[in-house]
Amino acid sequence: MICIGIESTAHTFGAGIVDSECNILANEKKSYITEGGGIHPREAADLHYSNARQVIEDALKKANLSMKEIDIVGFSQGPGLGPCLQVGAVAARALALQNKKPLIGVNHCVAHVEIAKKITNAKEAIYVYASGANTQIIGYEAGRYRVYGETLDIGIGNLLDSFGRSLGIGFPAGPKIDEMYFQAKNYIELPYSVKGMDLVFSGLQTAAERKIATADRIDLAYSLMHNAFAELAEVSERALAHTERKELVLTGGVAASKALRKILEEMCNGRGAKLLVPPFGVCTDNGAMIAWLGIVENKAGIKQEIWETRILPRQRTDDVEITWA
Ligand code: FE2
Repeated sequence: MICIGIESTAHTFGAGIVDSECNILANEKKSYITEGGGIHPREAADLHYSNARQVIEDALKKANLSMKEIDIVGFSQGPGLGPCLQVGAVAARALALQNKKPLIGVNHCVAHVEIAKKITNAKEAIYVYASGANTQIIGYEAGRYRVYGETLDIGIGNLLDSFGRSLGIGFPAGPKIDEMYFQAKNYIELPYSVKGMDLVFSGLQTAAERKIATADRIDLAYSLMHNAFAELAEVSERALAHTERKELVLTGGVAASKALRKILEEMCNGRGAKLLVPPFGVCTDNGAMIAWLGIVENKAGIKQEIWETRILPRQRTDDVEITWA
């Protein structure tokens, strides 16, 4: 069984093709990148519209398949930016209807988790999903992916990008400021906000931005990352302790951060747990993860009529009933 998955929740329009063993036959994408700003949903959606056809054709070409040989069409139904989600939904519906294939809308966050689980061969893990818009600590329990902790305001990637923008670095700023983490000499005092199992990043961002004019930029970037990542490690550690699990899987675009990996690895080593990180191409937003969840849900007998494929911009990870675990 082969599924083509369409991803378009935010900055990336992706088309991935995956078979029932999770072999990734193609994983093509085009992303919205700006020199000095964040994501403008309408502009990103316009770009997705102009790229959609090409990205889908590129994926089919890469996999050396025609739509005739594809069995299912999957797409990201939510959560995400409405205008962006709409592009993927329209493209997926067109592909499915034109080629008479079953269509299945899947949850973007669950897709991140499921492909990470499959690729790392994790058994009973806690998942850290850290991206621009999302930061969640997730674990499967009794029919749902439970959210043990999450950001109450902005995603950790958004924190890094917004702070980077204040330093005059374009989007995405993450990779550039990650280098600064390893160049810094001093820690600068900044807020550290953990609320129970949840995280708050906007106060940290504001406090760091107020110090840009007077403090060393590299030290400041280091200190901001240090606090944000330590907060994430603290909550992840509590989730591991509570569930007595020994695997921590890191996914989402911020999984690219060497600094975050280092901090989580130290925490895991300290408690006899293992940090697992899939290759970056499946951590960041991509079509292959959508295609894989399409296959998983299809195998579980889940079907949708066209009217059920409306986008769900606010759908939560724990809204989805997991019938296949
Ligand atoms: Fe994502």
